[in-house]
Amino acid sequence: MILYFSGTGNSLAISRQLAERLGEQVLPLNLAVKRDLSQERRIGLVFPCYWFNAPRAVTELLPRLQLPKDAYVFIVIPCGAQAGNAIWTVRRMLAAKGIDVAYSHKIRVPDNSAVGFGRNPNDQVWKFDRYAGRLERIAADIAAGVHRCHYAWWGLAGALCAIPAVQRRTLPMLTPAVNLDKCIACGICRDVCPQDNITIVDGKALCGTDCAQCLACVHFCPQQAVELNSKTTPQAHQYHHPKVMVADMC
Ligand SMILES: Cc1cc2nc3c(=O)[nH]c(=O)nc-3n(C[C@H](O)[C@H](O)[C@H](O)COP(=O)(O)O)c2cc1C
Repeated sequence: MILYFSGTGNSLAISRQLAERLGEQVLPLNLAVKRDLSQERRIGLVFPCYWFNAPRAVTELLPRLQLPKDAYVFIVIPCGAQAGNAIWTVRRMLAAKGIDVAYSHKIRVPDNSAVGFGRNPNDQVWKFDRYAGRLERIAADIAAGVHRCHYAWWGLAGALCAIPAVQRRTLPMLTPAVNLDKCIACGICRDVCPQDNITIVDGKALCGTDCAQCLACVHFCPQQAVELNSKTTPQAHQYHHPKVMVADMC
């Protein structure tokens, strides 16, 4: 079973690609906590790196998972460049549950956070071809039951990003807000939000306080009404994995 968390589809697409090669099924993490997975022989965790660490949404769900202690557990991080402490963090949390991670790796994919810095994630789709071979090697390693963990080099950046003063400056850069003048209340942001953090109130979308910063709402909004730092993301900069559509995220 491959469990994933995904905002713009990279982690979902990689989960599906691995599942196809390994004969596994995929399940979103927020549904996985409602299932008893203790009989699974192999568990995969696929999720993005946020701020050089594991997303809060993932670290909050992990303790609630019912996982087997003797399964082959692997972690794959689809990230823009560096996985930072994401693998370390999740390994440590699983170790506290008595679970060893057998295999972990990162894979570079388009960086969906680039929009927060005025850049276009679609300029990075070349990464899919560049790292296709790595994906095949990861799948082959997992199929062969290899025990090997990739450790990131950017642990220091992960530690810096965890400092509250740094977080106070960085988190707002990638925290979305709805521009009510542009919102047409189509409900897409509400449907793609993995945290159920968006509601439609009086014909307008409203963000709650449980944002995971996955940016699904920013990238999937057909009106470009979900903004970062009060700046519109142009349609040309909106990104989602080419094989993952709104319906896949709902
Ligand atoms: C809030 C936020 C922070 C991010 N931080 C990092 C990072 O520290 N390092 C990195 O390589 N990519 C970073 N990214 C890029 C994502 O890890 C990458 O685009 C990932 O594939 C998104 O997965 P998804 O499409 O499944 O949501 C960040 C993205 C977001 C939204």
